[in-house]
Amino acid sequence: MKKCLLSKQFLTKRRHQRLSPTSVYDIGDKLRLVFGKPSSINSLDNNLNNLDSHLLIKLSSSVPSAFGTNNLHPTTIWCIEMLEKYLKGEKLLDVGTGAGIITICALKLIRNKEEKFPTNFQADAFDIYQDAIKQAKTNLRLNGLEKYVNLEQNTLTNYPNNFYTLVIANLPPIAISELWLELIEKVADNGRLILSGILRHSFADLVERFSRKGFKLIDEKLTDLWCLAVLEKNL
Ligand SMILES: C[S@@+](CC[C@H](N)C(=O)[O-])C[C@H]1O[C@@H](n2cnc3c(N)ncnc32)[C@H](O)[C@@H]1O
Repeated sequence: MKKCLLSKQFLTKRRHQRLSPTSVYDIGDKLRLVFGKPSSINSLDNNLNNLDSHLLIKLSSSVPSAFGTNNLHPTTIWCIEMLEKYLKGEKLLDVGTGAGIITICALKLIRNKEEKFPTNFQADAFDIYQDAIKQAKTNLRLNGLEKYVNLEQNTLTNYPNNFYTLVIANLPPIAISELWLELIEKVADNGRLILSGILRHSFADLVERFSRKGFKLIDEKLTDLWCLAVLEKNL
């Protein structure tokens, strides 16, 4: 087994970290992500489960064009770290799910906390890109989670307003500029938005715009290039 537990600093220094056929990453306190071909991941299953109490996330590299298939971007790592801190309530929306990594981590964390999913639990995940959905489906299946999430190729407009206790969106900057007002509408009162992929030069202005709409900045990650904001809706 190749074990590749890279420091967060190492990952943040690289815009895209290419992964070897089977790589293992620990993120935050609880999650262990394993990338590789489904056959090699499954054969590692027992060893990895026995290592310690980490929750194991299996990720396939079968659709190389989907984001999150062959690389683990710092903005995705931040989102997962923030999930551990700020996962709230039972209605989750993953906007631009890519290979489904964030949704899978959220489902694992929620099920771990409650031992089963809360009664009113709902997880919705979508992407505009068909290959992403294909990859996310494969990954959900690998983790036995496909029946707990509504995964679709779709657009944000088609999801209910004022509904989600947590919206998580790791998006390209252009999509953030286009969707920020619509993202606000999706968050329920007292709900949270984890927004990642913000460019450094537009961070302050974006946070200001959110605050004018009743959102309070409760956490952030900043580098010279990428930023993340955790915003809470307190109208
Ligand atoms: C930076 S990747 C992040 C993927 C995944 N959330 C992660 O962190 O690994 C951004 C994703 O957003 C998707 N995307 C881009 N514009 C979008 C839009 N307007 N609505 C929904 N998804 C979008 C892309 O197809 C891509 O999969």
